Amino acid sequence: MRTHYCSTVNTEHIGQQVTVAGWVASRRDHGGVIFIDIRDNDEVLQLVCDPADSVEAHKIAEEIRDQFVIIATGIVRARGEGLENPNLKTGKVEIVVTNIIIENKSLTMPFELGDDRVNEEIKLKYRYLDLRTPKSHKIFKLRSKVSIIARNTLDNLGFMEVETPILTKSTPEGARDYLVPSRVHNGEFYALPQSPQLFKQLLMVSGFDKYFQIAKCFRDEDLRADRQPEFTQIDVEMSFCNQEDVIAIAEKLLSDVFNGCGFEVPQTFNRITYNEAMEKYGSDKPDLRYDLSMVDMIDIFARCDNAIFANIANDTKKNRIKALKVPNGDNIFSKRQMQGFETFVKQFGAGGLGYFQMKEDGLKGPLTKFFSEDDLKAIIDRCQLSLGDVVFFGAGDKKLVWDYMGRFRIFLANEMNIIPENRYEFVWVVDFPMFEVEEGKIKALHHPFTMPKLDENGKVGCDDLEELESIAYDIVLNGYEIGGGSIRIHKDEIQQKVFELLGIGEEEAKEKFGFLLDALKFGAPPHGGFALGLDRLVMIMTGSSSIRDVIAFPKTQKAQCLLTHAPSIVDEAQLDELALRIRKTNKGQ
Ligand code: AMO
Repeated sequence: MRTHYCSTVNTEHIGQQVTVAGWVASRRDHGGVIFIDIRDNDEVLQLVCDPADSVEAHKIAEEIRDQFVIIATGIVRARGEGLENPNLKTGKVEIVVTNIIIENKSLTMPFELGDDRVNEEIKLKYRYLDLRTPKSHKIFKLRSKVSIIARNTLDNLGFMEVETPILTKSTPEGARDYLVPSRVHNGEFYALPQSPQLFKQLLMVSGFDKYFQIAKCFRDEDLRADRQPEFTQIDVEMSFCNQEDVIAIAEKLLSDVFNGCGFEVPQTFNRITYNEAMEKYGSDKPDLRYDLSMVDMIDIFARCDNAIFANIANDTKKNRIKALKVPNGDNIFSKRQMQGFETFVKQFGAGGLGYFQMKEDGLKGPLTKFFSEDDLKAIIDRCQLSLGDVVFFGAGDKKLVWDYMGRFRIFLANEMNIIPENRYEFVWVVDFPMFEVEEGKIKALHHPFTMPKLDENGKVGCDDLEELESIAYDIVLNGYEIGGGSIRIHKDEIQQKVFELLGIGEEEAKEKFGFLLDALKFGAPPHGGFALGLDRLVMIMTGSSSIRDVIAFPKTQKAQCLLTHAPSIVDEAQLDELALRIRKTNKGQ
C-alpha cells in the first residue's frame, strides 16, 4: 500500500512521487491550504493539500481529523528556507499531495496521546491507543531488541531454548500461586509457574547441558512499581558449572544486551557479600550510583551513659546502631525538614531518629551529654565530620535498623539530589544466607533447591541455621534486583537434609516435589543458573518509573486488566463443568 515509511523520505526524493500510510498526528487548515502531519510506526511527515495541486485531495483533506487512517500519494519537495523542522528526521521535506484516501475514521480520542498528565486508568482502558504514542513505540522497540540480543548471545554460547509448561504444579518461589481448575479432574488444580525452576533442573538431568527460555512467570503477590503478577524472565540453567561459570554467562549476557542497545557498561561487575550490603546499605539490593553508606557506631554507644542506648549496644549479635552522614546538612536542610526525617523512619518501625550536628564549637545534639569528650571525638573521627555536617543514627534490632536506615539512605539521596541519571551501577550480591527466620518460622531465602555451602566433610554443618550460607547470587542494578540464581543441590541426601531443616516432612516433600527428588536419584549432574527480570531491565533502560510502562498489556496495582476487564465472573455453566461453586465473601471487594 505504501512506497515508503515516513522516516525514509528525505531530500534525495525531491521531485519523486511517493505513497505513505499512517495516522493523522495533527491537521492545520491555513485558509485554503491544509497541512497534515502523518505518522506511521516511527516518524512524522508533513503533507500539504493545496487545491491548486489537487482540488479532489483538498476536499477529502477537509474531512480528515486527528487519528484518521490515511494513505497519501504526492510529490516530495523541499520545505524551503526558514520552514524546515530540525526536530524531525523528515523536517527538510514535505509531500505535495495529489491523491489521498481516508482508509478509516476515528472517534475523538478519549485522551490526548502523549499527554503525561492523563490518569493512568484511562490510559490502561485504552491501552492500544496509549501504545500508539512514539514514547511507547520506543520502549517496545528496545524491549524487542533486548530479547533478540539475549537470544543471539545465548545461542552463540551454545544454549538451547526449550519451552516448559504453563499448566503445571506449584513451584517454590515463595509467592502465592495462580490456580487453574481442571475440568477433567474435578476438584483438582493446575498452578501457573512462578518460574520454570524445577523444569530447568529436570532438563539438566536429561543432559541438555545449557538451557534458556524467555519465560512467562506468574506470582500472586502484593504489587509494586517494579512487580507485576505476570512477568517475563530470561531464564538460564547449565550443567557442570560453579558460581564463577554462571556469573560469567550472566555478565556476558547483560553487557551484550546493554552495549548492544547503546548503553555503555563494563564487561564484568563488582561484587559485595550479602552481609556487607546489609551492614553498609541496609538492603540486599543497594543502589551504588551514589556514595552514602551507613557507619557502625555500636562500640562507641556501648560506652555512653544513656541506659537505653547502652542496653541496645550490649547485644552486638542482635542489635545495630548505624549512622548516616549528610555533608553540610545543617545548611541544606531546615529544622522542619529534619523533623520530617524522623516521621519518615517511624513509618518503618523506628522508635526515633537521633542526630548530631557538627558546629564550630564541636559536636551538638540532645544526646551529646551522654558521651565522654573522647567518645564525642571518636564519633567525629568515625564519621569524618566537618563543620556543618549532620549525622543521623538509628538504634535497635538489626533487621529493623537495616531496613529503616536503608530506606532513609535512599530518601536522603533523593532529598540531596545526588542520584545521577544515565548511570548504570551493576553489583553482584553474593554469599546469601541459606535460611531466614520470619515470624519464628525458618524459610529458604532463595528456594529450597539452593546449594548450601558445605563443610570440609561435604556436609551441611549447621550449628546456627541463620549463619549457614548458600551458593546464591543476585544481580542488582541501580537499587533494583534484576536477577538472581544459585548453584542447585544435585544430591538427594543434601536435598533431604535441607527439607528436614526447613521442617518439610518426607510426605510433604514427596507430594510437592517428588518428581524432582526422584530425578536427583537418576544421575543428576552438578548444575546451576539464574534468571533475569526482563521487564525490570527494560524499565531501567528506558528510564520508566513503572514496570507497567514496558509491558504491552499490564495489570493494575490490584491485578486487574482494565482493557479486557479480567478477572471477571464466569457463567454458571462453566462453573458447573469445573464442579465449582462461588462462596460469597467480602474478601477482595
Ligand atoms: P527470582 O524469584 O529471584 O528467581 O526471580 C528472578 C528475577 O525475576 C524478576 N521478578 C519479577 N519481575 C517483575 N514482577 C515480579 N513479580 C517479579 N518477581 C521476580 C526479578 C528477579 O530478580 N527460579 C529463580 C531463578 C534461579 O534461581 O535461576 C527465580 O525465579 O528481576
